[in-house]
Amino acid sequence: MEKRTDWYEHPEYYEAIFGTDTVREADFLQALSARHGTGGSQWLEPACGAGRLVAEAASRGMKVAGYDISEAMLAHARKRLTPAERRRVKLAPSRMEEFFVPELEGRVDVAHNLVSTFRYLDSEAAALAHLKGTRRLLKPNGIYVLGFHLTDYSRSVPEHERWLGRVGKDKVVCNTHEGLPDRRARRSPMRNRLRITGPGKDWLIETTWFFRTYDAVQAGKLFRNAGLRVLAAYDFDYDVNSPVARGSRRLDRVFVLQPEPGAVEQGTPEKTSAPKVMATKKQASTEKVTSVRKASAQKAKPEAAPKKKPARGNS
Ligand SMILES: C[S@@+](CC[C@H](N)C(=O)[O-])C[C@H]1O[C@@H](n2cnc3c(N)ncnc32)[C@H](O)[C@@H]1O
Repeated sequence: MEKRTDWYEHPEYYEAIFGTDTVREADFLQALSARHGTGGSQWLEPACGAGRLVAEAASRGMKVAGYDISEAMLAHARKRLTPAERRRVKLAPSRMEEFFVPELEGRVDVAHNLVSTFRYLDSEAAALAHLKGTRRLLKPNGIYVLGFHLTDYSRSVPEHERWLGRVGKDKVVCNTHEGLPDRRARRSPMRNRLRITGPGKDWLIETTWFFRTYDAVQAGKLFRNAGLRVLAAYDFDYDVNSPVARGSRRLDRVFVLQPEPGAVEQGTPEKTSAPKVMATKKQASTEKVTSVRKASAQKAKPEAAPKKKPARGNS
């Protein structure tokens, strides 16, 4: 078996597990925009990865801006675009904590970040900088659709989920573990193993990282501090007609955020003293559990019935 450490070097395998809900996600985003936002065509995807949603949105006629910390992921994103889509898409290397483009200020109809990538931001300062920066780019009635799992700090056992996918003749088995959350440090240890077997191939790609943790109160406080209000909350079932019920114990959340009236300030982007979250290499090891859970819960075909993704949140 050959060991590898960067699953972002192989987005085709990553997407075989986590990228199977692309059409449903794009449908959901359009429905949310029509219901809560402007319904307009300027979209922004922070941490767009290999561009599956960028391409899907562009194929629907949207103008799309996307950025990612990883040049390798952006290269994959560029490759998958048709010439017509390329004319509607702008991709750039950047970090969630820092991204700012003057031409987009106050112009974005829909920003989205669906698969827990937000939890890579490893400090309150970094998360705040990202949310404030994204808020500045939104139209006053634009929306930021942010999906991630809330944390149950009382959890006493680690979590494990397993999914199965295929890429051509290659079989992909994905196992993700989330250790116990550390309430004081505000983080959970994550580990993902992708085993890929096929003709002449037996790879194990193992990635470890930490995800920042949020309970509902912590998330709400952060959004308020960033000048964003929660218009609605959904779960990873992506049903625009089924917002999360009051008192629900499910932890998978999709928040629909909008600039708080009067919260938009002009001027230079806010700086953060937050440490660099991850460099390209390191990030390979920090890839996403979040998306794993969400996408996998919904799409990857479980080999042996794993917890249904949403169920992991005590639904
Ligand atoms: C789970 S993938 C999600 C990709 C894409 N949004 C999707 O849904 O397919 C997470 C992405 O976040 C990027 N990333 C991680 N930390 C980042 C940061 N601080 N700033 C920008 N991108 C980051 C990684 O390079 C990776 O492409």
